[in-house]
Amino acid sequence: MSTSRYSENKPRITTRTVVEMKDKGERITMLTAYDFTMARIMDQAGIDVILVGDSASNVMAGHETTLPITLDQMIYHTQCVVRAARHALVVADLPFMSYQVTDTGALESAGRMMKEAGVHAVKLEGGKVIVPAIKKIVDAGIPVMGHLGLTPQSIYKFGTYKVRATDNEEADQLVEDAYALQEAGCFAIVLEKIPASLAAKVTKGLSIPTIGIGAGPSCDGQVLVAHDMLGLNKDFSPRFIRRYADFENLMSDAVSRYHNDVKNGVFPNEKEQYE
Ligand code: KIV
Repeated sequence: MSTSRYSENKPRITTRTVVEMKDKGERITMLTAYDFTMARIMDQAGIDVILVGDSASNVMAGHETTLPITLDQMIYHTQCVVRAARHALVVADLPFMSYQVTDTGALESAGRMMKEAGVHAVKLEGGKVIVPAIKKIVDAGIPVMGHLGLTPQSIYKFGTYKVRATDNEEADQLVEDAYALQEAGCFAIVLEKIPASLAAKVTKGLSIPTIGIGAGPSCDGQVLVAHDMLGLNKDFSPRFIRRYADFENLMSDAVSRYHNDVKNGVFPNEKEQYE
């Protein structure tokens, strides 16, 4: 029996559906994807939201941080994912420096994402400082997801990937930022690597959903980088990652068996060739 929850008749998840899920107490699932094949598998497995994260900079391009990826590269990844997603809501990160310089620039970047890639919503990192940019984007009809806590585009400001908002001052700031993002029109907020108790407080207070990564079980939804939960990134193992598969070993085994078969002249065999 197939484990796929996909059906041709299944309605598309929208930003509105995601907010309704919070109201109904239904947890939201989100995973990253950067290409057609992974997005197709996730969509067919029933994932609610596919995030074309700027973690593509690390995972796909091999950069140390998310900073180098460009808007054009993010648009390319998003186009691939949008082609595969028939049910899931597709959200794409606006990359570093594509929305911080001017509010008009932010709108132009979000507009390109929607017009050229067909994305359903964009995600921006930051609190109060980016509220004017968010308002401009939302006013133009483009839904925005916020992102607070550990915001990897600010890694050089933080100087560390440690848990954020562990002191009262930063925790209070985060709560203020969360309400400011809701007020600005965000339909959801990612909370990354903050204490579970703080995430629970923010989640309880907001009417829009929170989606946590390393933020405990009380968030309205959870997100992981797909390559981490699939076991394709073994060198990265913070405590918030649960590995659901060990694809690195599976792939490595398959590749070395293929390598050996070719070297030993046993691939292809007589059934794997044409007369
Ligand atoms: O870029 C990304 O993958 C993200 C998630 C970690 C939330 O922003």
